[in-house]
Amino acid sequence: MWAVVVSLAEDLTLALDRLAFAKRLGLEPDPWQEDLLRSTSDQILLNCSRQSGKSTMTAVITLHRALYHPDSLILCLAPALRQAQELFGKVLGFYRDLGRPVSPQGERKLSLELENGSRIVTLPGSEKTIRGFSGTSLLILDEAARVEDELYFAVRPMLAVSGGALMMLSTPYGKRGVFYEEWSGGHGWERYEVPASQCPRISEEFLEEERASLPPFIFRQEYECSFEETEDQVFTTDMIDRAVTDEVQPLFGTGE
Ligand SMILES: Nc1ncnc2c1ncn2[C@@H]1O[C@H](COP(=O)(O)OP(=O)(O)OP(=O)(O)O)[C@@H](O)[C@H]1O
Ligand SMILES: [Mg+2]
Repeated sequence: MWAVVVSLAEDLTLALDRLAFAKRLGLEPDPWQEDLLRSTSDQILLNCSRQSGKSTMTAVITLHRALYHPDSLILCLAPALRQAQELFGKVLGFYRDLGRPVSPQGERKLSLELENGSRIVTLPGSEKTIRGFSGTSLLILDEAARVEDELYFAVRPMLAVSGGALMMLSTPYGKRGVFYEEWSGGHGWERYEVPASQCPRISEEFLEEERASLPPFIFRQEYECSFEETEDQVFTTDMIDRAVTDEVQPLFGTGE
């Protein structure tokens, strides 16, 4: 099925092995990424540091499902349009890098439809946006701590009917919301906790600088997987948003 030269044996390996698929995309997955790629669980929670590679893994898993499981509908939701665009950009980038192994039927700004009947749709998430998407085989919530609870309540019954898998990936955002509730007490989840110290692309020096310049609770939230108290919060959510940059520059940059 490949435009670039890939043997039948390799294609079979890539179909069966998401880790091999990630490597084919030029990634050398971190240990937690390896575990995730090998997982067969259909309920996964990832509580990860900023810039640990969660969106990248989302893109790999999404594309693999679309290419190798015909007729899949994969929905990737992120709280804001910019995040949905970024995620879709990664999916599309990988798809193009591979030489579009399954032909596109429709390549749009935020969705990709393939000749094998699979569809990848990325959306800024709100309860309204997912109405009308039934038969989802994989639903991914990126930055899940920041999506509306209503969205989560709307998708659960949808997945019960389709038998689809659910992955929620996030950096924590206070002791509130469904991501926190599920992480701290939900049943049936496979959980991954990935602090920045486990990410080989984030140096100790960088972390020390961040520790020195950020309020301690923000540092713990952004880099140490910590759900911080919100009741007696000294800084407003808005102040936190402004204190933390969207892009942690410029240590990384491989693979983009
Ligand atoms: N295994 C890997 N090998 C090389 N680079 C990687 C790997 N995983 C992620 N990266 C790179 O690390 C950077 C951050 O990845 P990504 O955007 O997926 O992280 P994130 O956890 O979603 O970050 P954020 O918290 O900002 O949303 C990107 O440049 C990505 O290409
Ligand atoms: Mg991300």
